[in-house]
Amino acid sequence: MLMDDVKKILISQEEIDARCKELGKQISEDYSDTVPVVIGLLKGSVPFMAELIKNITIDCELEFMAVSSYSGTESMGDVKIVKDLDRSIIDCDVLIVEDIVDTGNTLLKVKDLLYSKGARSVRVVSLLDKPSRRLVDIEAEYIGFTIPNEFVIGFGLDFNQKYRNLPFVGVLKEECYR
Ligand code: IMP
Repeated sequence: MLMDDVKKILISQEEIDARCKELGKQISEDYSDTVPVVIGLLKGSVPFMAELIKNITIDCELEFMAVSSYSGTESMGDVKIVKDLDRSIIDCDVLIVEDIVDTGNTLLKVKDLLYSKGARSVRVVSLLDKPSRRLVDIEAEYIGFTIPNEFVIGFGLDFNQKYRNLPFVGVLKEECYR
């Protein structure tokens, strides 16, 4: 069972659902005079994005991009666009959906890219924020939860592509890293 690898649950499904309601309300208010293009970064943002958009009560459009920067638990520092957008975002208000802001390298690169494609505004909503790990000066405008410097899995977050389907954010048992 997947659950046997979990050392502890950090954020429960109920807490995530409640926070998504608050974030959705805030985003709906902030974007009430526009139709934001909500861009999920594959694959980690999928469960969070699914929950969040149910709580966005204004018109919005959904898109996906895939970037890769990680291997195992260590950042490679290099961000590659694996799947680019297949539409124009010129003059669009873009909201990036991310699972976690860690070093910040991914977001810096993606934000720059979206501005270079002509976006009018680019903001970020992230389920998790790990500010103690930041290497570049970037912050998400909307944050679900700020967490300490621990490697987390679940609700989209993986270790070697595993554990994304856990319905909560948790910490892995040490023996599972080996
Ligand atoms: P950044 O570029 O260092 O901010 O890294 C962002 C990406 O690294 C996230 O989208 C995750 O895919 C991955 N990542 C960072 N920290 C964790 C973690 O604790 N668990 C799982 N993935 C993580």
